Amino acid sequence: MNSPNQNFAFLDLHPPKDNTLSEVCASLGQNAKSLSPKFFYDEKGSQLFEAITELEEYYPTRTELALFDAHLPEIAKLIGHNSCVIEYGSGSSLKIRKLLEALLPSAYVPVDISRDYLLSTATALSRDFSELSVFPVCADFTQDMALPAQVSQLHRVGFFPGSSIGNFEPTQAREFIRQVGDTLGANGYFLVGVDCKKDPLVLERAYADAAGVTAAFNLNALVHLNRELGANFQLENFQHMARYNEQQGCIEMFLRSTRAQQVNIGDAVFDFEVGELLHTENSYKYAPSEFMALAESAGFRCLKHWLDKDEYFGLYLLQAK
Ligand code: AVJ
Repeated sequence: MNSPNQNFAFLDLHPPKDNTLSEVCASLGQNAKSLSPKFFYDEKGSQLFEAITELEEYYPTRTELALFDAHLPEIAKLIGHNSCVIEYGSGSSLKIRKLLEALLPSAYVPVDISRDYLLSTATALSRDFSELSVFPVCADFTQDMALPAQVSQLHRVGFFPGSSIGNFEPTQAREFIRQVGDTLGANGYFLVGVDCKKDPLVLERAYADAAGVTAAFNLNALVHLNRELGANFQLENFQHMARYNEQQGCIEMFLRSTRAQQVNIGDAVFDFEVGELLHTENSYKYAPSEFMALAESAGFRCLKHWLDKDEYFGLYLLQAK
């Protein structure tokens, strides 16, 4: 689909549709039951995540935004003009808007697997930044991908805020960063926001807020599967749980079965014991030295990084070697 407007073009790389039913049945059929964190994010789940970002206990979003406000002018100077920003996961959020306003890039390429969401957020941004060329790409950003031909002459800047990288296992995170390097090419910049290791009590509070918003977010994965797969999870029989795994350096979220029960999904039956844990998310935390070493091992050097005064959150400007 090429519109006559040269400032906007949609590139559909046709990411394969995943088979939710077989995927969910496989992950619930394991001895240690789990669900992918992607099941949080239906419409309600996205709203709940927005609400999480505004909680007093959930420091990452406001801390990262404050780092943007303090350091984007410097970051823009380091990166310079005629750039193309490639965002991994489409942002309708304040963060991409702040970056675009500071960097004034020539082009913006949001990459997202959700076609409808991508098109609506990209259209809105294109409307609000009339000088900017916007070339949304529908793709699975963890896979190899070609950038739109229109941006081939521009300096590339990858953008991955919000500590989204924490959802990957560290070895997957390294693979992902390496692949971003392949897309960006030598000397390409990569701006990444990463949550730091800190007092486990602060971390656990951020993932088990007093108002129960994170609990509702966690349980929403079950609501989503009840609707999408006709499953019969009974929400009142599951309890939100978040704990910091010191060994692995990650917050682990679970839904704990409060009684012995069975759940049906189509013809499949899943038995839960009382107290059994259904794992729903890992959120890895990195000390600055750890994250920089990870980036180095994935083919980048860290040009500079910025932390807030509590050292809760890090913003890293990487450059591909
Ligand atoms: C969107 C993956 C960055 O790990 O902090 C927030 C998701 N889960 N509260 C995070 C999340 C529970 C969030 N990320």
